[in-house]
Amino acid sequence: MERIAIYPGSFDPVTNGHLDIIERGIQIFDKLIVVILKNPKKQFLFSPEERIEMLKTSLQDFPSVEVDTYDGLLVDYAAQRKAHAVLRGLRALSDFEYEFQMALMNRRLKREIQTVFLMTGMRWIYTSSSIIKEAAMFGGDVEGMVPPLVLARLREKFPILANPN
Ligand code: PNS
Repeated sequence: MERIAIYPGSFDPVTNGHLDIIERGIQIFDKLIVVILKNPKKQFLFSPEERIEMLKTSLQDFPSVEVDTYDGLLVDYAAQRKAHAVLRGLRALSDFEYEFQMALMNRRLKREIQTVFLMTGMRWIYTSSSIIKEAAMFGGDVEGMVPPLVLARLREKFPILANPN
């Protein structure tokens, strides 16, 4: 039986921290579906189309990874795709409460879907899309923290990043 996991998130934009989790996730699961979902708590910098393009390009060397979007509940999507698990990365302490809450709500909504946490590599423990966007917005260099296409797209959004003083 094929073991399918869903790796959900906002991916606004995808970071090297996400790629680290994906690379380790595909060692556990036969197939990984990376899905962009709506997080009503967040305001987005990139459109869903831009986020898909960045994900697809960054993941083109991983044949067992698919990229998709869905407008609804994560557990409904997971059931539709016959997934056994939801994969999430855990960084420093700050993630814990939010992730716990989400995993327990998801379990309440659909008991048969398990949430699996992978601990982010030490290099990415304090990396997040939000902090990268904030640095980029004010011209902070984020090279090495995001895939090359994301860096190019950030430079387009924030000209100050492309032309540092
Ligand atoms: O990258 P993020 O923003 O931490 O990802 C959060 C996300 C998108 C996975 C979460 O907000 C989500 O699952 N949204 C879809 C609606 C849903 O099922 N919410 C969780 C149970 S209420």
